[in-house]
Amino acid sequence: MTQRPYIVGNWKMNGMRAMLGEARAIDRAAERLIKAEVALAPPFTMIHAIRREAQLIGVGAQNCQPEDGLEHTGEISPAMVKDAGAGFVILGHCERRAHHHETDAMIKAKAEAALAVGLGVIVCVGETGEQRKAGQAEQAIAARLKGSLPGGDNAAEKLTVAYEPIWAVGSGRTPTPDEIGAVHRMIRSQLMETYGEGAAAVRILYGGSVNVENAAELLSADEVGGVLVGGASRSAESFLGIIAAAAERGS
Ligand code: 13P
Repeated sequence: MTQRPYIVGNWKMNGMRAMLGEARAIDRAAERLIKAEVALAPPFTMIHAIRREAQLIGVGAQNCQPEDGLEHTGEISPAMVKDAGAGFVILGHCERRAHHHETDAMIKAKAEAALAVGLGVIVCVGETGEQRKAGQAEQAIAARLKGSLPGGDNAAEKLTVAYEPIWAVGSGRTPTPDEIGAVHRMIRSQLMETYGEGAAAVRILYGGSVNVENAAELLSADEVGGVLVGGASRSAESFLGIIAAAAERGS
């Protein structure tokens, strides 16, 4: 593996100023951070504060709204995300797809708008439990990916894809490394088809119930370039445990 594992914490709708200490502690674990690339995606309200405190880790947002000439009360544009200090944005998370009715086309438009201002993007895709049981997981993921991937000549350069099975998010259940490897290989071949050789460097993360105990095994699956962590990224202790497992693999 040529790249350092990429370990991203998605804090979702969690994070008050009192949690700045967790971000600081994660950022201070410099030795481990040399062997893994680490980032946090806090809520919008904490991006600026974490960026100011942290020196080594990346900071990103969890969503953005493309500018389309309309007024958007309550939304945040890619340029605003960047101005607050973020370097990337997570798009198409299954919670946004389910609870905020985001479609593949919306996610593609968001990704293109984010790339246009120089942000990196993490595009999330995953199957439902029913789709996996019915043997349709790869088909469902492929369709989501096809509709959500940003177009453009240089899109692959700042792109990361996260495979997050919907049934694994927050459930304590995970696919086996073999199942993850099969999905990641399919995602890689679709990326190559879409972007050509430039897609070889696109990182494909696994997300869904990653914790200190299972991180090493999940990171060992074929084509897994890192992990996208929800609940276990909110305390420095557990997130640093995951980072340590990744650093071990990256060394
Ligand atoms: P959990 O790690 O809490 O399952 O969440 C995964 C996730 O949604 C990360 O984006």
